[in-house]
Amino acid sequence: MKTLLATEGLTKAFGGLVAVNRVSLEVRENSLTLLIGPNGSGKTTLLNLCTGVLKPDSGRVVFRDQDITGLEPHQIYELGFVRTFQIPMPFIALTVLDNVLGAMRSPGEDPFRAVTKAAWIEREEEHMERALAILEKVGLERHWNMPSASLGAAQLKMLEVARGLASGAKLIALDEPIGGVDPARAGDILTHLTELKKEGITFLVVEHRIDIAAPFADHMYALDRGSIISHGPPDSVLNDPKVIEVYIGRDEAC
Ligand SMILES: Nc1ncnc2c1ncn2[C@@H]1O[C@H](COP(=O)(O)OP(=O)(O)OP(=O)(O)O)[C@@H](O)[C@H]1O
Ligand SMILES: [Mg+2]
Repeated sequence: MKTLLATEGLTKAFGGLVAVNRVSLEVRENSLTLLIGPNGSGKTTLLNLCTGVLKPDSGRVVFRDQDITGLEPHQIYELGFVRTFQIPMPFIALTVLDNVLGAMRSPGEDPFRAVTKAAWIEREEEHMERALAILEKVGLERHWNMPSASLGAAQLKMLEVARGLASGAKLIALDEPIGGVDPARAGDILTHLTELKKEGITFLVVEHRIDIAAPFADHMYALDRGSIISHGPPDSVLNDPKVIEVYIGRDEAC
């Protein structure tokens, strides 16, 4: 499988604290790659470095064979790499459907095509159909007309995924998609992501709750104090003594 995203020696310090320390990882196309690590191990910082929210002190980020280090978040988004935040941030005043429509774009669309009313209506209908199809894929079709503010935690995470899909993303990075979600619904979220892989979407998932998330992962990376301590197939990472030590042997880990 092809590498979709790679980091090479990515490093970021905040004052004296090295939050991400020479991290090199690969996300293969069509995989669900799971990034685990205890509180403060650098998971969110790593996502921020990959998606342009933070600039690294050193190292590179390569997406679809293009060096994207230092690009602005909107440029990375436009290249097809979308991330969600630990705290979901949809436009809560809008309905679920409008949130998805708002994230949609038509690459290469001719602006003059919209001059006739008929063409405009036709395009609106196409967008609407596509948005509803996306909502079905994430299990939100019955909620299309609800204000986003009324959604529960799991549904808000899926709305963020839907917005990513609407934008035409190839890679969606999710920061704790099952955080604050009960185990049954958490499984539903991960099942939806697994289904979306079949449509060519790749996921980089940051998660604390490894017991729930690991069975859905193709590949895992374990981070501790900014460094990768283990990576490989989920079974080998979960049985790695270094990982066990971090999760079980240390009091502050969760
Ligand atoms: N903007 C910042 N300024 C200073 N220190 C920061 C900043 N962002 C993160 N840190 C520190 O960097 C380290 C890594 O934080 P990060 O948020 O990346 O961890 P995390 O693995 O996502 O943790 P959690 O599981 O709690 O979400 C922590 O010690 C944190 O306090
Ligand atoms: Mg975090």
